[in-house]
Amino acid sequence: MRDKINSIQIQAENDLSDCSTIEDIENLRVKFLGKKGQITLLYQNIKDVAPEDRPQMGQFINDLKQKITSAIVNVKDRIEKNILQKRLEQEAIDVTLPGRSSGFGKIHPLAKTMRSVIKIFQSIGFSVAQGPEVETEYYNFDALNIPSYHPARDMQDTFFLENGKLLRTHTSPVQIRVMENRTPPVRIIAPGRVYRNEAINARSYCLFHQVEGFYVDSSVTFSELKGVLGYFAKELFGEDSKIRIRPSFFPFTEPSLECDVSCFLCSGKGCRVCKKTGWLEILGAGMIHPAVLRSVGYDSSQVQGYAFGMGIERITMLLYGINDIRLFFENDLRFLSQF
Ligand code: DAH
Repeated sequence: MRDKINSIQIQAENDLSDCSTIEDIENLRVKFLGKKGQITLLYQNIKDVAPEDRPQMGQFINDLKQKITSAIVNVKDRIEKNILQKRLEQEAIDVTLPGRSSGFGKIHPLAKTMRSVIKIFQSIGFSVAQGPEVETEYYNFDALNIPSYHPARDMQDTFFLENGKLLRTHTSPVQIRVMENRTPPVRIIAPGRVYRNEAINARSYCLFHQVEGFYVDSSVTFSELKGVLGYFAKELFGEDSKIRIRPSFFPFTEPSLECDVSCFLCSGKGCRVCKKTGWLEILGAGMIHPAVLRSVGYDSSQVQGYAFGMGIERITMLLYGINDIRLFFENDLRFLSQF
């Protein structure tokens, strides 16, 4: 029995020195200390020893078990430290390396124009209002003096929704929503998205942005409208800009006009962008139709107003010489990072 204990001790020492992985150690533990391990077997064999020698043998086996157990802990500890050391070396981070820059975002060209336009009107007393993009026929058409039988409804191709509502085709319904809730004077600018069911090409897209403006008070005149539009053109397109107004038709204004700005590329001499005319069309406007004022409960004999509406895509295309409206919506960084 004594020899057996010694030889197990030698074997354990040899095996331990061969261990290089956690798995090796675990196998070793099973081999010596497991249920059928060599030490366990020694305890079972103790019954074959003469009774008077048993306590001493028991003591030997206990000592050996103790040695192997603590050796396993030590070797395991060493292996784990090695593994950790290797990992730390592999995953080492050089904190002195320069960081990777994530690049700066840019403001979308449409947002830039939108902000400039809003700022110009805010500087002369307009405040910003917004309305829903999902509208009713009443706000988008009827209240704006466009009854269902009126051919003007076909001027704007509409996306109708299943719930009987529609996607607003212009920002003009915000006029109605604001006036319904306020008494004159109201001086409002209403920026937002609008939708049209049109074929998509370089000139038109199914969604775009407008800025609507209107002013209602007890003595608003056509010449004030002219003055405001002239001021706006100079602020946005440059001090030398001039405006020209032409008669037009919108159901919600009477009289109605379209406003051109002198071409800022050729200073009015005539070029490719202004199609040799020297003028660029930038917005529609007019004096608010009395029927519109009446639809919100205003007394059209006591108050008047003017209104105007402009397309932000068109103005941005003119400002930057962009020839395809789809570029605004493709989110191509090569395009967007130029602004
Ligand atoms: N709502 C018109 C459109 O989308 C634009 C417009 C024209 C708005 C004249 C106005 C206006 O307020 O007075 O075509």
